[in-house]
Amino acid sequence: MDLFEAIVNRKTTNGFFADKKVSQEHIETLVKLSSHCPSHFNSQPWRFIAVTDEAIIGNIAKIAGDSMVQLMEDGRFWRQYRKYFRFSEEEMQKTKDGIHIDHLPAVLKPFVRTIFSETGGKIMAKFKVPRMLGNDEEKLVARSPLLFVISLTKDEYKPEELSGFYSVISMGAVIQTLWLATTALGMGMQFISTPGEIPENWKKISGLLKIPENYEMCAIFRMGYNDPDMKRPSIDWRSSERKSINELAYKNTWGEQLKNS
Ligand SMILES: Cc1cc2nc3c(=O)[nH]c(=O)nc-3n(C[C@H](O)[C@H](O)[C@H](O)COP(=O)(O)O)c2cc1C
Repeated sequence: MDLFEAIVNRKTTNGFFADKKVSQEHIETLVKLSSHCPSHFNSQPWRFIAVTDEAIIGNIAKIAGDSMVQLMEDGRFWRQYRKYFRFSEEEMQKTKDGIHIDHLPAVLKPFVRTIFSETGGKIMAKFKVPRMLGNDEEKLVARSPLLFVISLTKDEYKPEELSGFYSVISMGAVIQTLWLATTALGMGMQFISTPGEIPENWKKISGLLKIPENYEMCAIFRMGYNDPDMKRPSIDWRSSERKSINELAYKNTWGEQLKNS
């Protein structure tokens, strides 16, 4: 696949993957390509775990599902992230950022704005939205053939020091490489972030994976081969809009248009 094509076609996979194991060759390709990423002083501060064991994936899935329910029920998620939610194509076109919640059960559609708001707790509870999202999350993770975990050495990942910042930049390069490589291999990937919002749950996963004390588990992705015919999760979103070049960049100094037209 052409590089530019891979960059443009790269997308988060929100839905289920094909019911097919990821080949050992492809797992090794992902690690090999990641190893070529830049890092400060070539420190290679990352270590990876490719999880294919169904029992471990199942345990992580349960934690991810429970985390989703907890975050939805206590309203933390909406308070923190409400500003990124869009509820119509018009809103999306106006801001050209955020995520458009464009797919949800018919019974919820009339309430979408209320549900995903500060005061939506009651309606959310009535329609069991947290459980619905939690079940989806658990199933999505449990049915993923591969989880890919990135940890950073605490020798470098020191959040209060520049090396910590550099480590995170380096990990970002790995993440984009994984995303492009999976795209080229006909695979998809999605962040599993909800357990990261609940420190004790993140710790549980880190324990399950036997990550040593001197490493910080920083990111978990679910991966698999794409299947375009897979149905979407019960509540789902799209986020393919992007701001224009002139909104994103300037020429020479801040505020000067990059592109003339
Ligand atoms: C740091 C970070 C955290 C993210 N967390 C999640 C997540 O928890 N769940 C999810 O589905 N996507 C997550 N994403 C993916 C973004 O939502 C996604 O990249 C964005 O909406 C653009 O969509 P696209 O990747 O399909 O282009 C995350 C992305 C980044 C960079």
